[in-house]
Amino acid sequence: MKIRVEVNGDAVEIEAEPRTTLADALRHALGLTGTHLGCEHGVCGACTVIVDGRAVRSCLMLAVQADGARVVTVEGLSNDDALSPLQASFRKHHALQCGFCTPGMITTAHALLTDEPDADADRIRDVLSGNLCRCTGYIKIVEAVLDARAAYRDGDSDSD
Ligand code: FES
Ligand code: FES
Repeated sequence: MKIRVEVNGDAVEIEAEPRTTLADALRHALGLTGTHLGCEHGVCGACTVIVDGRAVRSCLMLAVQADGARVVTVEGLSNDDALSPLQASFRKHHALQCGFCTPGMITTAHALLTDEPDADADRIRDVLSGNLCRCTGYIKIVEAVLDARAAYRDGDSDSD
């Protein structure tokens, strides 16, 4: 099936089987391997992308369901030129080790701060509770998201 979708600001057409997940379409058809696949059944959050402004587990969404949608992956947050303020904050706070969970953490936190730039630590913990990290502590991740809030309040998140 042919799917028309906007990905990171570009209109693209993807050929996908009806059973193809959005995650596989992004990774295999478009080469956007920043979207990671861990559990592939909706538990770990590594595959989170933003679909029409909402954080979505792309392993649980079929590519055909994204027809006509606007999708943003972790690659789309920095426009390829520099780290976004949220990404820079993760680096500053050492909020990652292996980085496998990081794209999902970043996309989930980006969707949150876009809607709620004043989210407090409890709210951030609550929203990120569906994103699992096996190798770093969550404290640094929460600190990084808290520190990035100013950029979202100022409208300087450097993404769409
Ligand atoms: S790979 Fe999608 S939630 Fe784990
Ligand atoms: S940094 Fe390794 S899984 Fe989170």
